[in-house]
Order: sequence, then C-alpha cells, then structure tokens
Amino acid sequence: MKKLLVTGGAGFIGTNFVYYMAGKGYGITVLDKLTYAGGKDNLEPLINAGSVNFIEGDICDAEAVKRSLDGAEAVVHFAAESHNTRSETDPDLFYRTNVEGTNVMLRESFTYGVKKFIHISTDEVYGSIVDGYFAEGDKLLGDSQATSAYSKSKSQADDLAMEFGRNHPVVVLRPTNNFGPWQYPEKALPRWISNILLGSKIPLWGEGLQVRDWLYAPLTAECLEFLLEKGEGGNAYNVAANHNPEITNRQAAEWLCELLNVSKEDFIEYIPDPRPNHDFRYALNVDKITRLGFMPKIDPFNQFKATVEWYKQNEAWWKRRKEEAESIYK
Ligand SMILES: NC(=O)c1ccc[n+]([C@@H]2O[C@H](COP(=O)([O-])OP(=O)(O)OC[C@H]3O[C@@H](n4cnc5c(N)ncnc54)[C@H](O)[C@@H]3O)[C@@H](O)[C@H]2O)c1
Repeated sequence: MKKLLVTGGAGFIGTNFVYYMAGKGYGITVLDKLTYAGGKDNLEPLINAGSVNFIEGDICDAEAVKRSLDGAEAVVHFAAESHNTRSETDPDLFYRTNVEGTNVMLRESFTYGVKKFIHISTDEVYGSIVDGYFAEGDKLLGDSQATSAYSKSKSQADDLAMEFGRNHPVVVLRPTNNFGPWQYPEKALPRWISNILLGSKIPLWGEGLQVRDWLYAPLTAECLEFLLEKGEGGNAYNVAANHNPEITNRQAAEWLCELLNVSKEDFIEYIPDPRPNHDFRYALNVDKITRLGFMPKIDPFNQFKATVEWYKQNEAWWKRRKEEAESIYK
C-alpha cells in the first residue's frame, strides 16, 4: 500500500508522519482544514517537490473526502481537535470534528474501497490510572473514564472505528503523549521550551508530579508504517514509551532547564492547578504491539534534546504561533 490519504497531515504528528513516509517513497495526499493547529508551511518543501498532494478541506464534508480519496489504497486518520484546554470552551467543535468527522471518513473510505484504515486514537480514552497499566481490552464502550470533551469525543470516535473494524480492515492506534518538532506551542513541552527561549518561566501545575508517558513523534510515525503492514483489522494497539523510572512534569521541566542552560530555581514556577481534577497519570501496557514485533527506540533525554534543538533552530515557526497559543491560558 504505497498510496496514502493522510487527514490532519498539516498538524503536529501528521507532519512528522508525512515527512517520514515521503522519505520512504509513499505517494501522499493530505486532507487538512488548516485550523489554527494546521500549518501548510510545515509541508511546503514536500508540496513544492511534488511528493505531497495537498487538499484544503474538512473531514466532515463528504464531497471533499471523496475527492481526496482518489487513488488512495490506505487512510491514516489524524485530523482532530486535539487540545484538552480548548475543549472546555468549545466542546461542540470537538464532537463535530472528532466524532462526526471520523464517521464520515470511515463511511466514505470503505465506500471507495480502501484496503486499510488506521484511526489515531489516544491513551486518554482509558482515563487516568493510579497504578498499573491499561491494556487494549480495558477500553469500555462509550465515554468510559475519559474526562474532558476532547477525550470523550476521542473515546466515541474510537468506538466508531472499532465498530467499523468488525467488518472492515480498520486498525486503531492509541498512543501516549507525543512530543517533537512541529508541535503547536499550546502543548506543554513546546510551550515550556518557547517560554524559556523568551526568558519567561515554565508554569507547573500543582507540585508538577503528574506523570505523562512521553513518546517521540518520529517513533509514532515508524509505528504507523509498521501497522500499515502488520496491523490486523478490527484491532486496537497501544503504543507508549513506558519510561522506567516514570517522568513527572517536574522532571521534564528540569530537563528542559538543563538543556537550555538556565537554572530551574529561576525558570520553574509552581502555580495552583487550574484543572485540579485533570488526569494525573496515564500508563499503557504495550505487550500486544510488542508481540506483533514493534519495539521503538526509547531514549527520552536525547529525544528531548533533539526537540529543544528543533525549537532553537525554528524560532520563526513557533514565534508566529506563540501569541495565539498563549491567549487560551489568559
Ligand atoms: N499530540 C499528542 O500527544 C497525541 C497523543 C495521542 C493521540 N493524539 C491524536 O493524534 C492526532 C493528531 O494529533 P496532533 O497533536 O498532531 O494534533 P494537531 O492539533 O497538531 O493537528 C490536528 C490537525 O487536524 C487538522 N484538522 C482539524 N480539524 C479538521 C477537520 N475538520 N478537517 C480536516 N482537518 C482538520 C488541523 O488543521 C491540524 O492540521 C489526533 O487525532 C490526536 O487526538 C495526539
């Protein structure tokens, strides 16, 4: 399957994936609405080189989806509203894009006759876990333990994809928190890096002891290439870094201070948690995808380092986005 339709390919993980797959000789059409999170500038070199066919359009628009499917053998579906904080103020948009949009994508893709559809879900569909790890079978139907409009809408989209997967080759991927190049500076890591580069502090919520499983986005791209070949229709797969020891937000912030040569005492600021009930720890069991043969190279400190370097070298990219990104925290 060398011809792909990638939705949301101008967003963060989508861009990482499109570069990775274009480098492997795949023919790629990107369908993207170019919301605040999508950047056509991300893909400009590939579009100019003719390796990506870019279509600006909405996944909820069946006609735009039909046009984009022309020639596609497989679909990789990233497009979504992806930010928890924004979902508190505009939940309808999240349900429209994430649930309705996924339904249109699934329906039109199989009417057209694609051979595989990979739906990008999230670890947040399981909710938070104090100890232990969620396995794929722990996702209950419906909103389950998802806690925000973002994660609830992703949970419903995941159900739709699994339901289609009973009769069609649909694979669901549930990755943990991604980080890396091209991540919009509303999200924790690029927000903190760009703050330090601007001489501002990193605001850590509460005591900063929340645990996130940080997965380097280029590894998610590798994982998707693997699943295009090996993923079995009707199955969901977790993918995670499973750090040992686990990485608290405080640890992540201290690493960034070290990598950017600033003192943690001066640059980390502890603020009252604006979302005191938000998920404290995410953790996934990855036995299923490991058994299938996928073992990503996890090296968090050096992957943080590569990410910091990218933001240092692409100042114009994040500066264009920073003001809008910060406005949601005011
Ligand atoms: N970032 C993470 O840590 C993470 C972790 C797990 C899962 N995910 C999932 O991975 C996917 C990609 O996440 P991301 O962080 O790259 O998101 P992102 O917000 O950076 O990018 C989303 C992209 O989708 C596009 N889009 C939004 N609405 C659209 C619509 N109606 N029609 C067409 N395009 C539309 C945007 O323009 C943007 O290019 C999402 O489905 C997200 O839920 C993300």
